Amino acid sequence: MADLSAVPIVALDVPSEHEAMALVRELGPLAGWYKVGGELFTACGPSVVRAIRASGRQVFLDLKFHDIPNTVRASARSAAGLGASMITVHASGGATMVRAAVEGAGPTCHVMGVTVLTSMDAPSLAETWGRVESGVELLGEVVRLAGICAGAGTHGVVCSGHEASAIVERFSGLNPLVPGIRFAEGSSHDQVRVMTPRRAVEVGARYLVLGRAVTAAPDPRSAMQRVLDDIRAT
Ligand code: C5P
Repeated sequence: MADLSAVPIVALDVPSEHEAMALVRELGPLAGWYKVGGELFTACGPSVVRAIRASGRQVFLDLKFHDIPNTVRASARSAAGLGASMITVHASGGATMVRAAVEGAGPTCHVMGVTVLTSMDAPSLAETWGRVESGVELLGEVVRLAGICAGAGTHGVVCSGHEASAIVERFSGLNPLVPGIRFAEGSSHDQVRVMTPRRAVEVGARYLVLGRAVTAAPDPRSAMQRVLDDIRAT
């Protein structure tokens, strides 16, 4: 995979270890990284992370920690100890909390900051943070929160492809991780802000999260191969 311009990560959005490992086996050498999120981890716990690691793949443990710094530091330490290569924390937990995550994760586990969830729009953001809607501009909020992550030393941030270029322009050390990847002619499902793999890489994505574009495809292997062909560095 050394000649790829970004790291593709397949989201295991399934409720059982059996289904998760079936997908890992099906994709075989085509995928080196898997995302374990709240659904799978709550159902299976550390066992599924160990099973993926035992198959020689990397795990992105996407549990989006948001708690007091001491708890987040310990959670990050546990995740790294379990073998996760990457975890997420909410940037809105504050600089001290994000720094605690980076300390807890240590040298073997990258921390990615979640800025503004892609499910939120300006009105919901204004309501949540008690601000007037006219005073909230989504991209500005994303960049502001990315600044907290940069200051706290995270490896990158989770953002939509539409925000990636603004982030790399401002914070050259932050690696954007972009979900919402779709092929041009495919369904966007419930995602609003989608992008093709190649376009996401062009705007600065360093990691791509591939969900239903691969896992719900009639043939996940050929869909994954198509992603790899699309992002292969030219
Ligand atoms: O199937 P789909 O490609 O929409 O899946 C995207 C994956 O990325 C899901 O696991 C989803 O939870 C995750 N994600 C997202 N938007 C974010 C952060 C994570 O869609 N901002």
